[in-house]
Amino acid sequence: MSPTASTQVVERGLQDIVAVESHITFIDGQGGRLLYEGYDIRDLAEQSTFEEVAYLLWYGRLPTATQLDDLRQRLVGLRPLPEPLARLIDSLPTDSNPMDVLRTAVSALAMLERAETQPGPSSIGGALRLTAALPSMIGRFQRRRVGLAPLKERPDLNNAENLLYQITGREGSEAENRALDVALILHADHELNASTFAARVTASTLSDLYSAVTSAIGTLKGPLHGGANERAVELLAEIGEVSRVEEVVTAKLARHERVMGFGHRVYKVEDPRATILRAWLHRVGESAGNLHSYELLERMKEVVHREKGLYPNVDLYSGSVYALLGVPKDLFTPIFAASRVAGWAAHVLEEYQDLRLIRPSALYVGPTDLRYVPIAERGS
Ligand code: CMC
Repeated sequence: MSPTASTQVVERGLQDIVAVESHITFIDGQGGRLLYEGYDIRDLAEQSTFEEVAYLLWYGRLPTATQLDDLRQRLVGLRPLPEPLARLIDSLPTDSNPMDVLRTAVSALAMLERAETQPGPSSIGGALRLTAALPSMIGRFQRRRVGLAPLKERPDLNNAENLLYQITGREGSEAENRALDVALILHADHELNASTFAARVTASTLSDLYSAVTSAIGTLKGPLHGGANERAVELLAEIGEVSRVEEVVTAKLARHERVMGFGHRVYKVEDPRATILRAWLHRVGESAGNLHSYELLERMKEVVHREKGLYPNVDLYSGSVYALLGVPKDLFTPIFAASRVAGWAAHVLEEYQDLRLIRPSALYVGPTDLRYVPIAERGS
């Protein structure tokens, strides 16, 4: 049979293909629900912390107080970067894309810490190390590119507080720290998204966690995955005033352009993460006396829903929250990585437990009967 006569169906983008069994995350796109290990994201965002969620994703159950305390202490102890890695980050061009810096730093750390790079259950050590070290990598690069000395370690700060401190050089208010903690909880996992799939494909070859996370960072970097929140903030800047939302958004839609932060492949109602972050944007904006982006987004939500029937997704609000916290725009996706690393690691650990090489097929549509022409006969 000729390859092109095959009856195989190509599912472009692997849409609706179920590739693995997983107990980590459940998304109910019609009901607008998101569960981690069976727990509703709304309860986790209300009552837990990022560290507790990371434990839940890695061990499949909520920690006891002692287990959580132990995890926190281990994460704090794993924050400092080895000297050669700190020097490497300092040697990179200061105008590098911070996602490239992260990808390079994770890859380098693997070589510097060989003990943690064996595939298998011991990869939990790497999960802890990377979750603790990503904020240090982001902070190191951020300080360097603005010409400031690295910050001293602050073991008293939790993961979110430390991340904000590393980026901005200041301690956040209670509302700011909690807003970031909630954002990290909401981004920690999202089933088989592109970067998680990339991580699982890498792990399925029996490669190590660091390689899987390096693949995932490269995948998250793409604007169709990690970058929509940046674009949403850019659009707000372009709009400027609430009175201009209607005009700018309808003109964009008339040109068949996408409004970033709206619509979702899986959610057919509002993304529950968007609902939670909208409330946090209001809370942080109110305490900062700046509800401008909240008001712009409220108007935008009405106009886009009226015109296209689309609902907001998490990216509509995350960038505006980070911007209010003083985070530079190009660190929005690195913050996403600093959270999603927990989910990537959970999926890699799950992959190792029931490993099967992920290797789909392609429907060949090229020629099959070409005659090889020696190079001397091919002309110039
Ligand atoms: N703005 C304008 N029109 C849109 C948008 C949007 N944001 N999203 C979908 N549409 C329209 C699209 O043009 C199409 O219209 P028509 O049928 O008239 O051609 C229709 O809705 C269906 O679009 P689709 O691309 O087939 O739908 P999808 O389910 O594959 O799209 C999406 C999902 C996220 C790619 C898309 O909604 C989009 O591009 N949104 C903007 C980017 C964005 O916000 N991305 C972040 C997603 S959430 C991240 C996460 O879960 O981690």
